[in-house]
Amino acid sequence: MGFNLAILISGRGSNMLNIVNACDNKTLSSKVKIIISNNKNSSGLSKVKKKGIKTKIIDENKINKFEKKLSEILIKEKVNFICLAGFMRILSQEFLHNWKRKIINIHPSILPSFRGLNAVKKAIEKKVKYTGCTIHYVDKGVDTGEIIDQRIVKILKTDDEEKLAKKILKEEHILYIKVIETLEKEYNNGKDR
Ligand code: GRF
Repeated sequence: MGFNLAILISGRGSNMLNIVNACDNKTLSSKVKIIISNNKNSSGLSKVKKKGIKTKIIDENKINKFEKKLSEILIKEKVNFICLAGFMRILSQEFLHNWKRKIINIHPSILPSFRGLNAVKKAIEKKVKYTGCTIHYVDKGVDTGEIIDQRIVKILKTDDEEKLAKKILKEEHILYIKVIETLEKEYNNGKDR
């Protein structure tokens, strides 16, 4: 038995779609209950509507109002685990406290390097030889939560930001599924804290 998942996005939603597909084809035993976006122009939403998955836009500037609506939806949908995938809002400490170790995020760098925005660009600018992606639990900081797993990508001299971002994204898709699979097993073994 897997999780009842909510996936929160703000943009194109390739990680989200990848998780949805992995649940559909039973690679994962979780069920995607709802996709929520804070951005009404998020192109990811239309990609899953056809699949019959519920989507919701929460268009609220004030974080307390946003989180109130979010919490109502999560309760209604019986969600017990949240995946952030390109979700561009900072959640409050209070909200995170209620979902301790139940929210994970993916970031396109080997954390703790290159937190925050433009992580791929920063890696190129710093001329590091390797970068990659990280999945971590979400805490009150920006990309500071406990690291769950990472995948490495070698930076080639010929890589520009676009090429490198593409290579990292490919690894992100592999990593997200692997991590959820591992967490599902922990959950089933009652190791869930
Ligand atoms: C990914 O690079 C992810 O690491 C970052 O935002 C991007 C989202 O891409 N947090 P997508 O919306 O999943 O395609």
